[in-house]
Amino acid sequence: MNISFFGLGYVGCVGAACCARLGHHVIGTDVSKNKVSLINQGRPTIIEAEIEELIKEAHDNGRLEATMDFRYAVMHSEISFIVVGTPSSKEGHLNLDYVYAVARQIGEALREKKEFHIIAIRSTVLPGTNQTVGKMIEEASGKKRNQDFTVVSNPEFLREGTAVHDYMNPPFTLIGTDSELAESSFRELYKDIPGEFISTDIEVAEIMKYVNNTYHGLKIVFANEVGNICKALNIDSHKVMEIFCKDRQLNISPYYFKPGFAYGGSCLPKDSRALRTLAHDLYIDVPVIDAIHPSNEIQKKNAVEIIESKGKRKIGILGLSFKAGTDDLRCSPIVDVAEVLLGKGYEISIYDRNVKVSQLTGTNADFIAAKLPHLHEMISDDLDAVCRESDVLVIANKEREFDELPQRHPHKIIVDLVRQFTELDYDGNYEGISWANININSAQNDLPVKDMEKIEF
Ligand SMILES: NC(=O)c1ccc[n+]([C@@H]2O[C@H](COP(=O)([O-])OP(=O)(O)OC[C@H]3O[C@@H](n4cnc5c(N)ncnc54)[C@H](O)[C@@H]3O)[C@@H](O)[C@H]2O)c1
Repeated sequence: MNISFFGLGYVGCVGAACCARLGHHVIGTDVSKNKVSLINQGRPTIIEAEIEELIKEAHDNGRLEATMDFRYAVMHSEISFIVVGTPSSKEGHLNLDYVYAVARQIGEALREKKEFHIIAIRSTVLPGTNQTVGKMIEEASGKKRNQDFTVVSNPEFLREGTAVHDYMNPPFTLIGTDSELAESSFRELYKDIPGEFISTDIEVAEIMKYVNNTYHGLKIVFANEVGNICKALNIDSHKVMEIFCKDRQLNISPYYFKPGFAYGGSCLPKDSRALRTLAHDLYIDVPVIDAIHPSNEIQKKNAVEIIESKGKRKIGILGLSFKAGTDDLRCSPIVDVAEVLLGKGYEISIYDRNVKVSQLTGTNADFIAAKLPHLHEMISDDLDAVCRESDVLVIANKEREFDELPQRHPHKIIVDLVRQFTELDYDGNYEGISWANININSAQNDLPVKDMEKIEF
């Protein structure tokens, strides 16, 4: 295929060299005369393992050329990659000036081009940029998106130092597109690159890099905070983290990575609090570990705010224990939500087939006596009765028996805290705690904007 790269810096130089190695013809363009001239001499613009050989090989076999003429680059390629810098402003905002400048250049060049053109944003940009770039290109070219051209988001995951290896062996190849033609072109472009090829929503692809990098940062500071606590106790932190990483069921795994409700139960709150307090007693700053509890509390407030935003007084809570399949109510986050709602005068009905008030004993009974002393008056073992008498159904535990609720109780408002449904054809109002757009009747989902009230747990 014929490909152009707008930007011959780190990502552009590596991408151009690797695409040429994959057998494509590559035209690099840059505003820097020096970088264009280096490429045309068969020399890389950066220092990086393996890059010298790759650029020389591509130059020598005629697969790589560079130019400052952006029109030439567009006219002689089917796909143009945008790989210019996206620096941070002082306040942390993204500076998209270079991306927009390239969008305008490509748009101008497309005025004269008859063939369909694919623009791929490889630079790291925030969600929404793809659409803005598409509009800019429409304005500059006088052409129509998805008729004359399309804009794909194809984030770059390489790390400096191992850039060529990372480019050729990515964890997966990700594109966000709304064009079938672009998807098949990208499958062809990357057909010799190993790993899963994922084609997804444009905004999903756009946010992915930020989620990845923020999580990588979180991993590093978490390990460092654990290390600092261990050091103070004369414990070998590397042994600790080595063993930590051996748990592929809960630690290094997809487990717990599903956006949803707050955590609770008898262990997580107690044990993370104990580690936090230990660190404080040792005078060790652990801001990340400190932030876990407040973040969890915010998710309970979010649940209350969503329920309140529905403007109804009769609330049915489906699932009261801290997770499905148990009757353990200790530190169950939905109990805190129910307590707040009761305090505000809401009428609460509760269904949980595992919770039998008369059988609660020990700390479980004490917890409920303190939080919901009148639980026996609110709880029922008749799911349909609870649904009938409620205007808002709050699903707090994921149970198979809730699957049929939208059909059995149409027109109710559903607040889903556990992703009971992955997609829904429902004529009632549906809202997930941390996700949107699964109800195909999405007009029902327009949420009223509401003043945030301070809620104490
Ligand atoms: N460096 C990395 O490890 C890495 C990894 C993944 C993603 N990214 C992202 O990729 C993007 C590019 O990063 P980089 O490190 O390659 O940046 P860079 O600064 O090394 O290179 C950007 C290049 O774009 C050129 N340029 C600017 N305006 C141009 C224009 N109008 N036309 C043509 N060229 C133009 C610059 O002269 C420069 O050579 C950024 O969004 C970055 O966040 C970087």
